[in-house]
Amino acid sequence: MNDSDLDLDTAIGQYAELLAANLQAQREAHFPPDARKQMRSLTSGEAAELLHVDHTYLRKLHREGKIPEVEMTAGNHRRYTLDDLWQIREALESKAKKPGTYLPGRRGDDPLQVISVVNFKGGSGKTTTSAHLAQRLALTGYRVLAVDLDPQASLSALHGIQPEVDLADGGTLYDAVRYDAPMPIRDVIRKTYMRGLDLIPGNLELMEFEHETPAAIARGGARAFFARVRDALDEVEADYDVVVIDCPPQLGFLTMSALSASTGVLVTVHPQMLDLMSMSQFLRMTSDLLSVIRDAGADLRFDWLRFLPTRYKVGDAPQTEVIAFIRGLFGRAVLVNQMVESTAISDAGLTKQTLYEAERKDFTRATFDRAIDSMNAVNDEIAALLQKTWGR
Ligand SMILES: Nc1ncnc2c1ncn2[C@@H]1O[C@H](COP(=O)(O)OP(=O)(O)OP(=O)(O)O)[C@@H](O)[C@H]1O
Ligand SMILES: [Mg+2]
Repeated sequence: MNDSDLDLDTAIGQYAELLAANLQAQREAHFPPDARKQMRSLTSGEAAELLHVDHTYLRKLHREGKIPEVEMTAGNHRRYTLDDLWQIREALESKAKKPGTYLPGRRGDDPLQVISVVNFKGGSGKTTTSAHLAQRLALTGYRVLAVDLDPQASLSALHGIQPEVDLADGGTLYDAVRYDAPMPIRDVIRKTYMRGLDLIPGNLELMEFEHETPAAIARGGARAFFARVRDALDEVEADYDVVVIDCPPQLGFLTMSALSASTGVLVTVHPQMLDLMSMSQFLRMTSDLLSVIRDAGADLRFDWLRFLPTRYKVGDAPQTEVIAFIRGLFGRAVLVNQMVESTAISDAGLTKQTLYEAERKDFTRATFDRAIDSMNAVNDEIAALLQKTWGR
């Protein structure tokens, strides 16, 4: 095919069709159409870690019949599903001296927490951070809603959703925040294969919000848009402890609306000098835009803002220096832990898995352990911020 034989729209359309058909074929080869992604079962070591109990204590609880029994493998090892973990948590919590020892979520008047993961630097690890954070929180006993606000839909893809196929008739947050005939947000929430984790997927339709907002502002002022995400989330507020929003790498109206709904903000930073410069622009622009919506009446109170160094190459001198530099400037606003760069994370990503779904035996053990330790340290530091916000 000669480029000059076709108009640009036809040429690009042909490439699009070719790619979509091929991706679909690949997907069918890996996941047959009726197969749903499933969470693997967990070893007793993994279960003990997620329950925050000692391995031998977990065995003792089973022996004494204090918690429900689980499946045994042929080799006489216990295997745990996520449902098992929730049942065990409930059994332990009912006898715990201190409330919240095993069920860490909201109690009483604790407010829902909404965390936005932002930066307009592409590839700074927003989606990787959002996915692992949402999953780790769900695995450790929080009720989590993950929201894919990026038209590129990487977070959705990571959860086994293919936008062209699964969202052909809509089903993104756009449907719940659009100006004409919005749907109840409940109608766009999907259960995932992980107990405790629900998802609102994304796709290109989210761009519609960017196109429609200027006219909505002209009609009703800025107020018309900035409260849309918060108002939609309020409809399901009672169902979750935490919402994690994976923002797109741009400061559009949706990102602004997500930020004004947020109680916590995570800014991912790839520790390189060029990325710092772009982050400086990002911060300035965010601040300017937010001040406009605050003047229009937005409530911009929040509980915490933290910078998270991502994709840190352990031992890399320039990166280590950049991290020290931002720690010097921003102090405790930089998380103590950083997410290390690891082939375990990128390799798991290739098969649309997070480290929490992947199996240790498929990796070099030391590589896998280093990556997951770093990921857990980051996520547990964020969980501690949630607990602190709830006054614990
Ligand atoms: N800690 C890590 N170690 C290795 N690879 C990583 C790590 N974090 C992210 N990556 C890889 O880097 C790429 C970009 O990461 P990710 O998609 O999370 O960034 P992003 O900020 O969401 O990008 P975008 O701005 O395009 O949405 C992905 O291929 C991901 O697998
Ligand atoms: Mg992303």
